[in-house]
Amino acid sequence: MEYRPNPDRYSGIMQYRTCGHSGIKLPILSLGLWHNFGSVDNFETATAMVKHAFDNGINHFDLANNYGPIPGSAEENFGRILKRSFINHRDEMLITTKAGHFMWEGPYGDGSSRKNLISSLNQSLKRMQLDYVDVFYSHRYDGFTPIEETLQTLVDIVKQGKALYVGISKYPPRETKFAYEYLKSQNVPCLLHQDRYSMFTRNVEQEILGIAGDNGVGFVGFSPLAQGLLTNKYLHGIPEGSRAARADGFLKIEQVTPAVIEKVKQLNELASNRGQTLAEMALAWALRDNRVTSLIIGASSVAQLDDNLKALNNLQFSNEELDTIERILA
Ligand SMILES: NC(=O)c1ccc[n+]([C@@H]2O[C@H](COP(=O)([O-])OP(=O)(O)OC[C@H]3O[C@@H](n4cnc5c(N)ncnc54)[C@H](OP(=O)(O)O)[C@@H]3O)[C@@H](O)[C@H]2O)c1
Repeated sequence: MEYRPNPDRYSGIMQYRTCGHSGIKLPILSLGLWHNFGSVDNFETATAMVKHAFDNGINHFDLANNYGPIPGSAEENFGRILKRSFINHRDEMLITTKAGHFMWEGPYGDGSSRKNLISSLNQSLKRMQLDYVDVFYSHRYDGFTPIEETLQTLVDIVKQGKALYVGISKYPPRETKFAYEYLKSQNVPCLLHQDRYSMFTRNVEQEILGIAGDNGVGFVGFSPLAQGLLTNKYLHGIPEGSRAARADGFLKIEQVTPAVIEKVKQLNELASNRGQTLAEMALAWALRDNRVTSLIIGASSVAQLDDNLKALNNLQFSNEELDTIERILA
Protein backbone atom coordinates (compact mmCIF):
# COMPACT_ATOMS: atom_id res chain seq x y z
CA MET A 1 0.00 0.00 0.00
CA GLU A 2 1.23 3.47 -0.84
CA TYR A 3 2.65 5.32 2.17
CA ARG A 4 0.86 8.55 3.01
CA PRO A 5 2.71 10.55 5.65
CA ASN A 6 0.80 11.88 8.63
CA PRO A 7 -0.65 15.23 7.47
CA ASP A 8 -0.14 16.63 11.01
CA ARG A 9 3.56 15.78 11.17
CA TYR A 10 4.65 19.38 11.69
CA SER A 11 1.95 20.35 14.15
CA GLY A 12 2.38 17.55 16.65
CA ILE A 13 4.84 16.89 19.41
CA MET A 14 8.06 17.84 17.58
CA GLN A 15 9.85 21.11 18.25
CA TYR A 16 12.40 22.73 15.95
CA ARG A 17 15.48 24.74 16.85
CA THR A 18 17.32 27.09 14.53
CA CYS A 19 20.71 25.79 13.66
CA GLY A 20 23.26 28.37 14.78
CA HIS A 21 23.42 31.46 12.56
CA SER A 22 21.58 29.97 9.58
CA GLY A 23 18.17 29.64 8.01
CA ILE A 24 17.96 25.97 8.86
CA LYS A 25 15.75 24.53 11.58
CA LEU A 26 16.23 21.02 12.87
CA PRO A 27 13.86 18.81 14.83
CA ILE A 28 15.24 18.50 18.36
CA LEU A 29 15.30 14.73 17.85
CA SER A 30 16.82 13.35 14.66
CA LEU A 31 17.23 9.77 13.49
CA GLY A 32 20.66 8.20 12.94
CA LEU A 33 21.19 5.12 10.79
CA TRP A 34 24.50 3.89 12.21
CA HIS A 35 23.05 0.62 13.58
CA ASN A 36 19.89 -1.31 12.61
CA PHE A 37 19.63 -0.16 8.97
CA GLY A 38 22.29 -2.37 7.41
CA SER A 39 22.05 -5.37 5.12
CA VAL A 40 22.10 -7.70 8.17
CA ASP A 41 19.05 -5.95 9.65
CA ASN A 42 15.34 -6.30 8.95
CA PHE A 43 14.45 -4.01 6.04
CA GLU A 44 10.76 -3.84 6.98
CA THR A 45 11.60 -2.66 10.49
CA ALA A 46 14.05 -0.12 9.08
CA THR A 47 11.37 1.19 6.71
CA ALA A 48 8.80 1.36 9.51
CA MET A 49 11.20 3.37 11.69
CA VAL A 50 11.93 5.94 8.97
CA LYS A 51 8.20 6.33 8.29
CA HIS A 52 7.37 6.60 11.99
CA ALA A 53 10.07 9.20 12.48
CA PHE A 54 8.84 11.24 9.52
CA ASP A 55 5.23 10.97 10.66
CA ASN A 56 6.28 12.53 13.96
CA GLY A 57 8.18 15.48 12.53
CA ILE A 58 11.67 13.93 12.42
CA ASN A 59 12.81 15.13 9.00
CA HIS A 60 16.57 14.99 9.69
CA PHE A 61 18.29 11.69 8.88
CA ASP A 62 21.95 11.14 9.68
CA LEU A 63 24.08 8.71 7.68
CA ALA A 64 27.72 8.06 6.85
CA ASN A 65 29.51 6.16 4.11
CA ASN A 66 30.47 3.32 6.45
CA TYR A 67 27.15 2.68 8.25
CA GLY A 68 25.92 -0.88 7.95
CA PRO A 69 27.04 -3.57 8.38
CA ILE A 70 28.13 -4.22 5.69
CA PRO A 71 29.62 -0.72 5.33
CA GLY A 72 27.58 1.26 2.82
CA SER A 73 24.45 -0.83 3.20
CA ALA A 74 22.64 1.68 5.45
CA GLU A 75 22.91 4.27 2.68
CA GLU A 76 21.75 1.69 0.14
CA ASN A 77 18.74 0.76 2.27
CA PHE A 78 17.92 4.40 2.97
CA GLY A 79 18.05 5.07 -0.78
CA ARG A 80 15.59 2.22 -1.37
CA ILE A 81 13.27 3.53 1.36
CA LEU A 82 13.39 7.03 -0.14
CA LYS A 83 12.65 5.77 -3.60
CA ARG A 84 9.75 3.57 -2.51
CA SER A 85 8.04 5.90 -0.08
CA PHE A 86 9.42 9.44 -0.01
CA ILE A 87 9.83 10.37 -3.65
CA ASN A 88 7.59 13.42 -3.19
CA HIS A 89 9.08 14.42 0.16
CA ARG A 90 12.81 14.84 -0.56
CA ASP A 91 12.61 18.61 -0.10
CA GLU A 92 11.13 18.18 3.37
CA MET A 93 14.15 16.17 4.47
CA LEU A 94 17.57 17.13 5.72
CA ILE A 95 19.84 14.23 4.76
CA THR A 96 23.43 14.14 5.92
CA THR A 97 26.37 11.88 5.23
CA LYS A 98 30.04 11.80 6.17
CA ALA A 99 33.42 10.43 5.18
CA GLY A 100 36.70 10.07 7.05
CA HIS A 101 36.68 6.64 8.71
CA PHE A 102 37.90 3.44 7.07
CA MET A 103 35.75 2.44 4.12
CA TRP A 104 37.83 0.64 1.50
CA GLU A 105 41.25 -0.98 1.19
CA GLY A 106 44.30 0.90 0.02
CA PRO A 107 45.69 4.32 0.87
CA TYR A 108 42.60 6.33 -0.19
CA GLY A 109 39.76 4.55 1.58
CA ASP A 110 40.36 6.14 4.99
CA GLY A 111 41.14 9.56 6.47
CA SER A 112 40.27 13.10 5.48
CA SER A 113 42.14 13.61 2.20
CA ARG A 114 40.52 15.27 -0.81
CA LYS A 115 40.77 11.95 -2.67
CA ASN A 116 38.88 10.07 0.05
CA LEU A 117 36.21 12.69 0.67
CA ILE A 118 35.27 13.28 -2.97
CA SER A 119 35.34 9.61 -3.99
CA SER A 120 33.37 8.70 -0.92
CA LEU A 121 30.67 11.31 -1.43
CA ASN A 122 30.27 10.20 -5.06
CA GLN A 123 29.75 6.64 -3.80
CA SER A 124 27.28 7.79 -1.12
CA LEU A 125 25.18 9.70 -3.64
CA LYS A 126 25.04 6.65 -5.87
CA ARG A 127 24.04 4.37 -2.97
CA MET A 128 21.29 6.72 -1.79
CA GLN A 129 20.24 7.51 -5.39
CA LEU A 130 20.45 11.23 -4.62
CA ASP A 131 21.79 14.19 -6.62
CA TYR A 132 22.98 15.96 -3.49
CA VAL A 133 23.03 15.67 0.29
CA ASP A 134 21.97 18.51 2.52
CA VAL A 135 25.02 18.34 4.74
CA PHE A 136 28.34 16.65 4.07
CA TYR A 137 30.56 16.16 7.12
CA SER A 138 34.23 15.60 7.58
CA HIS A 139 33.67 12.60 9.88
CA ARG A 140 36.83 13.21 11.88
CA TYR A 141 40.02 15.21 12.12
CA ASP A 142 42.55 12.53 11.16
CA GLY A 143 45.65 14.29 12.53
CA PHE A 144 47.48 13.51 9.31
CA THR A 145 45.92 15.28 6.33
CA PRO A 146 46.69 19.02 6.29
CA ILE A 147 43.49 20.52 7.65
CA GLU A 148 43.36 23.06 4.79
CA GLU A 149 43.13 20.17 2.30
CA THR A 150 40.10 18.72 4.09
CA LEU A 151 38.36 22.06 4.52
CA GLN A 152 38.95 23.25 0.95
CA THR A 153 37.47 19.95 -0.21
CA LEU A 154 34.32 20.68 1.80
CA VAL A 155 34.14 24.11 0.16
CA ASP A 156 34.58 22.61 -3.31
CA ILE A 157 31.91 19.99 -2.69
CA VAL A 158 29.40 22.74 -1.96
CA LYS A 159 30.51 24.66 -5.05
CA GLN A 160 30.01 21.50 -7.12
CA GLY A 161 26.42 21.30 -5.81
CA LYS A 162 26.92 17.89 -4.21
CA ALA A 163 26.11 19.24 -0.76
CA LEU A 164 24.15 22.31 0.29
CA TYR A 165 26.04 22.76 3.57
CA VAL A 166 29.01 21.28 5.39
CA GLY A 167 29.75 20.13 8.89
CA ILE A 168 32.54 18.68 10.98
CA SER A 169 32.46 15.83 13.44
CA LYS A 170 34.66 15.03 16.45
CA TYR A 171 37.15 17.84 15.79
CA PRO A 172 39.30 18.90 18.77
CA PRO A 173 38.78 22.50 19.98
CA ARG A 174 41.85 24.04 18.29
CA GLU A 175 41.09 22.48 14.91
CA THR A 176 37.43 23.37 15.35
CA LYS A 177 38.25 27.08 15.64
CA PHE A 178 40.52 26.88 12.61
CA ALA A 179 37.88 25.05 10.60
CA TYR A 180 35.12 27.55 11.41
CA GLU A 181 37.37 30.47 10.42
CA TYR A 182 38.58 28.81 7.23
CA LEU A 183 35.11 27.84 6.06
CA LYS A 184 33.73 31.30 6.86
CA SER A 185 36.54 32.95 4.89
CA GLN A 186 35.52 30.84 1.86
CA ASN A 187 31.84 31.80 2.23
CA VAL A 188 30.84 28.24 3.06
CA PRO A 189 30.19 28.57 6.80
CA CYS A 190 30.10 25.44 8.89
CA LEU A 191 26.44 24.60 9.51
CA LEU A 192 26.77 21.73 11.97
CA HIS A 193 29.17 20.40 14.52
CA GLN A 194 28.56 16.80 15.48
CA ASP A 195 29.97 15.14 18.58
CA ARG A 196 29.04 12.62 21.25
CA TYR A 197 26.87 14.01 24.05
CA SER A 198 25.02 12.27 26.85
CA MET A 199 24.90 12.18 30.64
CA PHE A 200 27.81 9.73 30.42
CA THR A 201 29.96 11.68 27.91
CA ARG A 202 30.08 15.39 28.59
CA ASN A 203 33.45 16.52 27.16
CA VAL A 204 31.78 18.96 24.75
CA GLU A 205 30.51 20.99 27.70
CA GLN A 206 34.10 22.08 28.36
CA GLU A 207 34.82 23.88 25.07
CA ILE A 208 33.04 22.68 21.94
CA LEU A 209 29.52 23.81 22.88
CA GLY A 210 30.84 27.29 23.65
CA ILE A 211 32.95 27.55 20.49
CA ALA A 212 30.06 26.35 18.31
CA GLY A 213 27.62 28.71 20.04
CA ASP A 214 29.96 31.72 19.75
CA ASN A 215 30.50 31.03 16.04
CA GLY A 216 26.87 30.50 15.11
CA VAL A 217 27.37 26.81 14.36
CA GLY A 218 24.60 24.39 15.30
CA PHE A 219 25.56 21.55 17.62
CA VAL A 220 24.20 18.07 17.03
CA GLY A 221 24.79 15.51 19.78
CA PHE A 222 25.08 11.85 18.90
CA SER A 223 24.56 8.73 21.06
CA PRO A 224 22.51 10.70 23.63
CA LEU A 225 21.41 7.39 25.19
CA ALA A 226 25.04 6.19 25.40
CA GLN A 227 24.13 3.50 22.86
CA GLY A 228 21.33 2.18 25.05
CA LEU A 229 23.07 2.31 28.45
CA LEU A 230 20.88 5.28 29.44
CA THR A 231 17.69 3.26 29.16
CA ASN A 232 16.21 0.55 31.33
CA LYS A 233 17.50 -2.10 28.92
CA TYR A 234 20.60 -3.28 30.83
CA LEU A 235 19.20 -3.05 34.38
CA HIS A 236 18.90 -6.83 34.67
CA GLY A 237 21.69 -8.14 32.46
CA ILE A 238 22.44 -8.11 28.74
CA PRO A 239 19.29 -8.89 26.74
CA GLU A 240 19.60 -11.06 23.67
CA GLY A 241 19.71 -9.03 20.46
CA SER A 242 20.72 -5.81 22.27
CA ARG A 243 23.60 -3.76 20.91
CA ALA A 244 25.92 -4.97 23.67
CA ALA A 245 25.03 -8.58 22.81
CA ARG A 246 25.54 -8.22 19.07
CA ALA A 247 28.94 -9.09 17.69
CA ASP A 248 28.66 -6.17 15.24
CA GLY A 249 27.50 -3.68 17.91
CA PHE A 250 29.81 -0.86 18.94
CA LEU A 251 28.70 -1.08 22.58
CA LYS A 252 30.91 -3.68 24.19
CA ILE A 253 29.84 -5.95 27.03
CA GLU A 254 32.85 -4.66 29.01
CA GLN A 255 31.24 -1.20 29.01
CA VAL A 256 28.22 -2.52 30.92
CA THR A 257 29.98 -2.53 34.29
CA PRO A 258 28.41 -2.80 37.77
CA ALA A 259 29.47 0.81 38.46
CA VAL A 260 27.67 2.04 35.33
CA ILE A 261 24.56 0.00 36.13
CA GLU A 262 24.49 1.39 39.68
CA LYS A 263 24.28 4.91 38.23
CA VAL A 264 21.69 3.78 35.71
CA LYS A 265 19.56 2.38 38.55
CA GLN A 266 19.62 5.67 40.42
CA LEU A 267 18.88 7.65 37.26
CA ASN A 268 16.05 5.27 36.45
CA GLU A 269 14.49 5.91 39.85
CA LEU A 270 14.69 9.68 39.37
CA ALA A 271 13.14 9.32 35.89
CA SER A 272 10.29 7.30 37.29
CA ASN A 273 9.67 9.97 39.97
CA ARG A 274 9.35 12.43 37.07
CA GLY A 275 6.86 10.11 35.37
CA GLN A 276 9.33 9.34 32.55
CA THR A 277 11.35 6.39 31.37
CA LEU A 278 15.11 6.76 31.74
CA ALA A 279 15.45 7.12 27.95
CA GLU A 280 12.97 10.02 27.98
CA MET A 281 14.76 11.73 30.87
CA ALA A 282 18.22 11.26 29.33
CA LEU A 283 17.06 12.93 26.11
CA ALA A 284 15.28 15.76 27.92
CA TRP A 285 18.43 16.37 29.99
CA ALA A 286 20.68 16.60 26.90
CA LEU A 287 18.26 19.12 25.37
CA ARG A 288 18.28 21.44 28.41
CA ASP A 289 21.01 23.60 26.81
CA ASN A 290 19.66 25.59 23.86
CA ARG A 291 23.02 25.46 22.12
CA VAL A 292 22.19 21.80 21.42
CA THR A 293 20.23 22.10 18.18
CA SER A 294 19.33 18.43 17.90
CA LEU A 295 20.10 14.99 19.32
CA ILE A 296 20.66 12.15 16.90
CA ILE A 297 19.08 9.07 18.38
CA GLY A 298 19.30 5.48 17.25
CA ALA A 299 16.57 2.87 17.58
CA SER A 300 16.05 -0.78 16.79
CA SER A 301 12.23 -0.69 16.82
CA VAL A 302 9.29 1.64 16.31
CA ALA A 303 8.41 1.14 20.00
CA GLN A 304 11.78 2.58 21.05
CA LEU A 305 11.29 5.56 18.78
CA ASP A 306 7.89 6.13 20.35
CA ASP A 307 9.34 6.00 23.84
CA ASN A 308 12.04 8.48 22.85
CA LEU A 309 9.54 10.87 21.27
CA LYS A 310 7.68 11.00 24.59
CA ALA A 311 10.70 12.82 26.03
CA LEU A 312 9.27 15.93 24.40
CA ASN A 313 6.30 15.87 26.78
CA ASN A 314 8.51 17.04 29.64
CA LEU A 315 11.75 18.88 28.92
CA GLN A 316 11.78 20.85 32.19
CA PHE A 317 13.99 20.09 35.19
CA SER A 318 13.87 21.58 38.65
CA ASN A 319 17.21 22.71 40.11
CA GLU A 320 16.86 19.95 42.66
CA GLU A 321 16.52 17.31 39.91
CA LEU A 322 19.54 18.70 38.09
CA ASP A 323 21.56 18.60 41.33
CA THR A 324 20.50 15.01 41.95
CA ILE A 325 21.63 14.05 38.44
CA GLU A 326 25.00 15.73 39.04
CA ARG A 327 25.39 13.82 42.30
CA ILE A 328 24.59 10.50 40.63
CA LEU A 329 26.96 11.14 37.74
CA ALA A 330 29.81 12.41 39.94
N1 LIG B 1 29.78 11.47 14.01
C1 LIG B 1 30.07 10.29 14.51
O1 LIG B 1 31.22 9.88 14.56
C2 LIG B 1 28.97 9.42 15.07
C3 LIG B 1 29.29 8.35 15.92
C4 LIG B 1 28.25 7.59 16.43
C5 LIG B 1 26.92 7.88 16.13
N2 LIG B 1 26.65 8.92 15.27
C6 LIG B 1 25.24 9.21 14.89
O2 LIG B 1 24.40 9.18 16.02
C7 LIG B 1 23.33 8.26 15.79
C8 LIG B 1 22.83 7.71 17.09
O3 LIG B 1 23.84 6.96 17.74
P1 LIG B 1 23.41 5.77 18.68
O4 LIG B 1 22.65 4.76 17.91
O5 LIG B 1 24.62 5.35 19.42
O6 LIG B 1 22.39 6.54 19.67
P2 LIG B 1 21.72 6.22 21.05
O7 LIG B 1 20.37 6.88 20.94
O8 LIG B 1 22.61 6.61 22.17
O9 LIG B 1 21.56 4.63 21.11
C9 LIG B 1 20.61 3.97 20.33
C10 LIG B 1 20.40 2.55 20.85
O10 LIG B 1 19.87 2.58 22.18
C11 LIG B 1 18.84 1.61 22.33
N3 LIG B 1 17.59 2.33 22.56
C12 LIG B 1 17.14 3.45 21.93
N4 LIG B 1 15.98 3.85 22.44
C13 LIG B 1 15.67 2.98 23.42
C14 LIG B 1 14.59 2.88 24.32
N5 LIG B 1 13.62 3.77 24.31
N6 LIG B 1 14.59 1.85 25.22
C15 LIG B 1 15.60 0.95 25.25
N7 LIG B 1 16.66 0.99 24.41
C16 LIG B 1 16.69 2.00 23.50
C17 LIG B 1 18.82 0.81 21.04
O11 LIG B 1 19.74 -0.25 21.18
P3 LIG B 1 19.38 -1.79 20.91
O12 LIG B 1 19.85 -2.04 19.53
O13 LIG B 1 20.17 -2.50 21.95
O14 LIG B 1 17.89 -1.98 21.03
C18 LIG B 1 19.34 1.80 20.05
O15 LIG B 1 19.90 1.21 18.91
C19 LIG B 1 23.93 7.25 14.83
O16 LIG B 1 22.95 6.50 14.14
C20 LIG B 1 24.71 8.16 13.92
O17 LIG B 1 23.84 8.74 13.00
C21 LIG B 1 27.63 9.69 14.76
